[in-house]
Amino acid sequence: MKTVMSGIQPTGDLHIGNYFGAVQNWVRLQETYRCYFCVVDYHSMTIPYEPAKLRENTWKMAFQLLACGIKPENLFIQSLVPEHAELAWILSCVASYGELTRMTQFKDKAEQLKEKDKDVLISAGLFTYPILQAADILIYHAHYVPVGKDQEQHLELSRNIAQRFNHQYGRDYFPLPEPLFTETPKILSPADPARKMSKSLGEKHYINLFGEEAHIRKQIRSAVTDTGDAPPGQMSPGVANLFEILRACGQIDAYNVLMADYHAGKLRYSQLKETVADALAALTTALRERLQHLEAEKKKVKAQLEASSAVIREFARKTLREVREIVGLTSLKA
Ligand code: TRP
Repeated sequence: MKTVMSGIQPTGDLHIGNYFGAVQNWVRLQETYRCYFCVVDYHSMTIPYEPAKLRENTWKMAFQLLACGIKPENLFIQSLVPEHAELAWILSCVASYGELTRMTQFKDKAEQLKEKDKDVLISAGLFTYPILQAADILIYHAHYVPVGKDQEQHLELSRNIAQRFNHQYGRDYFPLPEPLFTETPKILSPADPARKMSKSLGEKHYINLFGEEAHIRKQIRSAVTDTGDAPPGQMSPGVANLFEILRACGQIDAYNVLMADYHAGKLRYSQLKETVADALAALTTALRERLQHLEAEKKKVKAQLEASSAVIREFARKTLREVREIVGLTSLKA
């Protein structure tokens, strides 16, 4: 069985863009692959953050992933497997400084941070972030990594690191991980459909997957439809986004009927919105209920995740024992 690995930052709450674009796909991959999914709390330390909030958000994200259908045995918290950090150090001596300086995400993030606060500290961790990501992947000898296109360059770096490691130490130790760009719906901001749904844009720009139904309905009702910038005869991005959400919710029949109305020039946006809101309400209500069940057993669920992290850690330790041997570090006793 091939191995899949992916990670998600503990941003607080999952939004429907994360769900349709990534998490739903992860849930499906569990049927075919040995899966390692991880909440990457070490990665969240690369930009300014609050310690108490980080811990809270890490558990929050783990619970939400479970509610979405990630199996507890496939889920863990990155920092509960500290071997990731050790492998990242070793790989940082294989990665080149030059290739890291070409990472566009580092440049973008550093610029964004400086825009908000020109005196902000740009950490070395933000710069070496992709090496830690490579460690996340390689430590499990993963073959496939389901990620968005924005992670393509990081994946390429992971492959280069694996290849260089194998070459430098003269053996085929790490499989070269490949990105898995599954076609997933790209959900846009309801308030500004020119941009991808994202928490960093602000409250209006994302729909919380575990939000209150009334609030979700309100956000759909006030979603931007016509901005007047779509070329004549072409569907505006806001309307296309509503259709995309409907389809992502699995409402294919309603989608087809409304799409036919659109092409016949008789679609009422109010009706489209109503249908989308109903579809999202049905989906999110079920997810919210599952989350409530998990939260009612908080202690038990946390213990379960700690246990799965410990099992996964055993695998990571095995990799580290082998890697330490290969690279010439002194053997650890026990
Ligand atoms: N950098 C990824 C992102 O921002 C998150 C991530 C961390 C990741 N480690 C990973 C993704 C390992 C895939 C595999 O989305």
